[in-house]
Amino acid sequence: MNGEKRDNWSSGFGFVMSAAGSAIGLGNIWKFPYVCGMNGGAVFLSLYILFAVILGYPILLTELAIGRSGQMNAVDSCRKIHPKWGFAGGFGIIGSVAVLSYYSVVGGWVMRYAFSFISGNIPKADEFTLFASKTAEPILWQMGFIILTTAVIISGVSGGIEKVSSFLIPSLLIFLTAMMIYSCSLPDAVKGVRFFLIPDSSDKIRINALPMTAVRAMGQVFFSLSLGMGTLITYGSYLKKDFRLSRGTVSIIVIDTIIAVISGLIILPAVFSAGIAPDEGAGLIFSALTEVFGRLSAGRFLGSLFFILVFSAALTSSISLLEVIVSFLSEKTNLSRAYAALLASAVIFLFSVPASLSHGILSDVTIMGLTVFDFFIFLSDNIIMPLGAFFLCILAGHLWKNDMLYNELTSGNTVRFMAWKAYLCLIRYICPALIIIITTAAFIM
Ligand code: PHE
Repeated sequence: MNGEKRDNWSSGFGFVMSAAGSAIGLGNIWKFPYVCGMNGGAVFLSLYILFAVILGYPILLTELAIGRSGQMNAVDSCRKIHPKWGFAGGFGIIGSVAVLSYYSVVGGWVMRYAFSFISGNIPKADEFTLFASKTAEPILWQMGFIILTTAVIISGVSGGIEKVSSFLIPSLLIFLTAMMIYSCSLPDAVKGVRFFLIPDSSDKIRINALPMTAVRAMGQVFFSLSLGMGTLITYGSYLKKDFRLSRGTVSIIVIDTIIAVISGLIILPAVFSAGIAPDEGAGLIFSALTEVFGRLSAGRFLGSLFFILVFSAALTSSISLLEVIVSFLSEKTNLSRAYAALLASAVIFLFSVPASLSHGILSDVTIMGLTVFDFFIFLSDNIIMPLGAFFLCILAGHLWKNDMLYNELTSGNTVRFMAWKAYLCLIRYICPALIIIITTAAFIM
């Protein structure tokens, strides 16, 4: 412990905005629309909402409760509940490195696109693959993304994360809503809206693919809500005792889901309006969407705005990822927050270089048949996050004394928690069972 005073969120609003800032990121704006586009639109959306309720709510609430009761980094907060279970909070420390190694690559692409639009060079659809496969340029952009993340972390928790998020998240909601209205008014946009919101029961292919779609929707819930990584344990550890955990959890999930749905309603109608197939994959916002912007008279302005917003959302998420490592290192060693942040970002940068190069000169290098970039995605989304959440459910549901858990969730019996019985059943049995299904399926499919 380096003796620096432990920070606290200055208000409940600041906390909800910061946690929403962690949750809302590339997962909502980059990943959700393309995964939805590849998995039948409305069917995926319905399953996503179902899993956000039965997996997202109980796991997010559990993480906040563990963090607030421990008032320490993710590992020590878990250890306070059971001395041998520190490892359950440790998944985030490796997980954050794995996620940031590819997240910073995409963050760099987003920065580059924002700059292109601002400077008036609207990229063509096919330029994306060419740019991503270059050696030096993407690495310089991702380095810029890592440096910015580190700078916010060094300025402290309430001074940095809370200020940035309290401004960014409301702005994001306002601007994305305006863009959604614009996008939905494009010619033929209604086809995209229908694809996204109305399940097509006559689509036999989609019905056969339902189990696979369900597994993808579960994975997306983990990634989008930042579950199983200790991020929310760490954020919860800076919470004051009178904060209403269950209500806060609902607000975070609702805001995250609204942003994902709005992003779907920006991207899919625009893509349908331009006559582009919605299942083009990870390049959807970079290639198809820039093509759409390129055809519009207000394209430069809208494209700049869109990529600045995506960048801001990605930054608040990467901050939360780095914070997990920094709070652990600064409380466990003599390192100050600043040194811990610099050390962690140097390691992340080293891993992110091969992840970036795997789109170009290292495209032939594979691990378990995946490129380095895809391997990091597989490792974090399909293994580390679900497994981390699995152990946290067991810790809270089976090893934490029920009355102590109840006490934490009700702020010492001062607020009511009506869903207690359902919550307990979910974290004890249903969530662990669903998680085993996702991780097993990840290896089989
Ligand atoms: N939830 C973030 C997103 O949607 C990613 C993230 C995952 C952040 C895990 C923190 C921890 O982009």
